[in-house]
Amino acid sequence: MKGGVGKTTSTVEIATILAKEHKKKVLVIDLDPQTNATLSLITLDAWEKIKDTATIADVLGIKRGMSSRDEEFDIKDAIIKNVNGIRNLDLIPSHLELTFLDLDLVSIPARESVLKNQISKSDLSYDFILIDCPPNLTLAPQNALIISDYIIVPVIPEIFPAIGLPLLVNRIRKWKKSFAECNVDFLGMVFTKVDGRYSMHSQQMDALRKKNVIHCFSTIIPQNADISKAVAQSKPATIIYPNCAGIESYKNLVKEIILKIGAA
Ligand SMILES: Nc1ncnc2c1ncn2[C@@H]1O[C@H](COP(=O)(O)OP(=O)(O)OP(=O)(O)O)[C@@H](O)[C@H]1O
Ligand SMILES: [Mg+2]
Repeated sequence: MKGGVGKTTSTVEIATILAKEHKKKVLVIDLDPQTNATLSLITLDAWEKIKDTATIADVLGIKRGMSSRDEEFDIKDAIIKNVNGIRNLDLIPSHLELTFLDLDLVSIPARESVLKNQISKSDLSYDFILIDCPPNLTLAPQNALIISDYIIVPVIPEIFPAIGLPLLVNRIRKWKKSFAECNVDFLGMVFTKVDGRYSMHSQQMDALRKKNVIHCFSTIIPQNADISKAVAQSKPATIIYPNCAGIESYKNLVKEIILKIGAA
């Protein structure tokens, strides 16, 4: 729910590591109108070229008026293949129009399932689909949750998560009960942007682990300047700084994820 905790960074780096190091076929779907995941994977110029014809807004049918939502647009037409030259790393870019998704879909039945329906009628074939969500439980994340197997929650170990995390977990479990077809569950939380010099971080990590609200990955992602520098170059840090401390940690996290879901 909180902004700036590393959701987009984690999506982009985990996806890149899965494709590059583990040779998995991976699709990133950017469901956040801020388009941060998109612009971490392709340049602004590249996005400008396709933004009016082939983004998540076309997949969800929110640009051309209600009547066109549907059958005509094939989700495959919005997929950019092998982004940044990374074999098997594909992207469905976002669009600013997604800001108004809740308004645009207000009168649509089963509005939580628009993305699911588009994916279901296509024969997409991926080992992993990672969906980057905005920081709230509006319609975009609901469209993501309904087709997902797992949720990964990045957490900066400060005071807020001690209150916010149980709220988020309860809220999603309650929400899920209204959708018989929804099988999503929490895979775990991962501590991000951890500053080893800051005693509050280690205290809060201990406190959150003890609370045992959901599984906690043992890998910790440190605060690392190389990770934030990579965004400016529209490339994952995994490509530019593959051996920096932050990326070494993300590589360990990916190993944990693969082990936990049995996808080796
Ligand atoms: N481990 C890290 N070390 C240093 N900087 C980081 C790290 N992880 C993320 N950042 C930086 O912190 C900022 C916020 O990260 P990010 O965009 O991934 O968060 P978010 O949860 O997706 O935010 P939002 O809620 O706005 O979507 C970015 O500038 C990113 O480059
Ligand atoms: Mg983000």
